[in-house]
Amino acid sequence: MLMTDTHAAQLLEEITAELSQRGAEAGGQDDWHPFATRLRQHFPTLLTELTALYGDRADFRQFLRALIASALAAWQARPADLRALDAARETEPDWFQSHRMLGGVCYVDLHGHNLRGIAAQIPYFKELGITYLHLMPLFRCPDGNSDGGYAVSSYRAVHPALGTIEDLRALAHALRQEGISLVLDFIFNHTSNEHDWARRCLAGDPAYQDFYFLFPDRTIPDQFDATLREIFPDQHPGGFSQLADGRWVWSTFNTFQWDLNYGNPAVFKAMAEEMLAIANLGTEVLRMDAVAFVWKRLGTTCENLPEAHTVIRAFSALVRIAAPGLLFKSEAIVHPDDVVKYISPQECQLSYNPLQMALLWNTLATREVNLLQQALEQRHTLPPGTAWVNYVRSHDDIGWTFSDEDAAQFGIQGFDHRQFLNRFFVNRFPGSFARGVPFQDNPATGDCRICGTSASLAGLEQGDPLAVARILLLYSVVLSSGGIPLLYLGDEVGVRNDPSYLQDPSKAADSRWVHRPPYDAPGHAARYDRATPAGQIFTGMQHMIRIRQSHPVFGGNALTGFRSGNPHVLGYTRGSGSTAVLVLANFSERTQDISARTLSAQTALMRDLITGNLLPTRAGVSLAPYQVVWLESLA
Ligand code: GLC
Ligand code: GLC
Repeated sequence: MLMTDTHAAQLLEEITAELSQRGAEAGGQDDWHPFATRLRQHFPTLLTELTALYGDRADFRQFLRALIASALAAWQARPADLRALDAARETEPDWFQSHRMLGGVCYVDLHGHNLRGIAAQIPYFKELGITYLHLMPLFRCPDGNSDGGYAVSSYRAVHPALGTIEDLRALAHALRQEGISLVLDFIFNHTSNEHDWARRCLAGDPAYQDFYFLFPDRTIPDQFDATLREIFPDQHPGGFSQLADGRWVWSTFNTFQWDLNYGNPAVFKAMAEEMLAIANLGTEVLRMDAVAFVWKRLGTTCENLPEAHTVIRAFSALVRIAAPGLLFKSEAIVHPDDVVKYISPQECQLSYNPLQMALLWNTLATREVNLLQQALEQRHTLPPGTAWVNYVRSHDDIGWTFSDEDAAQFGIQGFDHRQFLNRFFVNRFPGSFARGVPFQDNPATGDCRICGTSASLAGLEQGDPLAVARILLLYSVVLSSGGIPLLYLGDEVGVRNDPSYLQDPSKAADSRWVHRPPYDAPGHAARYDRATPAGQIFTGMQHMIRIRQSHPVFGGNALTGFRSGNPHVLGYTRGSGSTAVLVLANFSERTQDISARTLSAQTALMRDLITGNLLPTRAGVSLAPYQVVWLESLA
């Protein structure tokens, strides 16, 4: 059903007339007016997106009315301080592009035992300069294996071991007082099989029967499986798992993570309510989990379908109406052509940059900057009002998601090169410094991904004297290449692989736990002791963070490639004119030179912001093994 503008306007009038009454009753005109203004502004977008998904249903208008009533209820429940934040964000929509931004990510239990323990860490976060804190999933989830909390049983209750909803609200507030934005996951592709919706669905409750994808036998699952990629082949083959009663349920990830059916508007509405409730706790950024998978269609890979984008844009339009301060960060760990499709002011304003992440590690292995330089030059630019979240590693595996076509330009064959990278990072390649662990090794397809902490992958575990320099090199790129740099907390003191997960039956089958060690108390205690690797990494990183945070040129997302003329040296410029900074990064364990000719367009004298050294460019520049310089021009 395509709606004309007149119809849309009529529909809006109907809905507002009805709601204005309710709005006035519940919260008074002060409440209703800002909502009504934003509703008018964003209704056309919301309507377009929802019409594309559900417009041909007989109950569409009813659904729309109920959805907007839910949005109004969420707005009415939105605390005053968050409404003030909304207003501030609306006047400064590019706040996240600031050079002061620095992200950190950690598990609540591993890093601080519970939410109060995380609050007690605020002085430490400030010592580092963190302005954005992603707390890993903290809502109620099954005992035992819960995929690290990514199987949510209730979005309205904190996991009892971590605290309460009130603790979470208080933490969000305390963080905000200190200039730190709370980031939480929005795990909306699936719920745990213990979620109330799942239980009711299983029990045949008609209101919930279409919430998930349940099949009586293998007929339809077989048809879908013919074109699906296996995400966790170690856990179960294909995209479905069998229930005790013999039926099959769609479970892209683990058997206990049931995919939601967004073909059903009731699912959209139910999740929208959960989303706005999470926003109202004081969350400033939602990490949109597993975005690629949320829509399914027979005969496709069921990844990155156009409707997945429509679902997210519809959520985003609702947010603009009822919690406008909130941003979305896309978690699409897919082909780079698909990653960027989630990024726009109307969809996800932020996105992980999995290509840069994977290519940082690739470059350490090959010592050749070709692919990374190409990615910075050709795949870094984003639309205005959006930015990358750049990172060295996350709680997940490293997958080699570069484009085969890009690689082919350098004569690199994608499949073979991935085999090399996997061998290199699990130390099955002569001379490798890395001590990684394979993840979801799939002999049938040759697919494999890599686990390991930054320190262990960079050589610290095997005592390589250059490991510290490698870690700082990777973080230097993340800190200087634009967007929001994201630090996996613990990396700053060089946490190593933790094989103890093998002793825990609920974790042993998932090697990602090797790089999720508990808080490293000795490492933190030594963080200012430059005789230790922890101290060298911490002080080196803190130094670069401070430089970033005192130079506006590092803000924003824009970057210009700079060809160093040396295959081992990455180059790019941030900013332009007299405040521009030229970054040169040596990805090899040998000294590398940049010729005077390459630098001929630069000023005769430059200063390295990192060491403070003056460099006469007419003599060329020489970089020590793994050295990076951030060069400012001197007149
Ligand atoms: C995301 C998470 C990952 C989880 C998966 C399923 O990719 O980062 O840890 O296993 O989604 O929720
Ligand atoms: C993510 C990614 C996949 C990743 C996994 C978590 O959504 O698509 O590549 O490895 O889930 O491990």
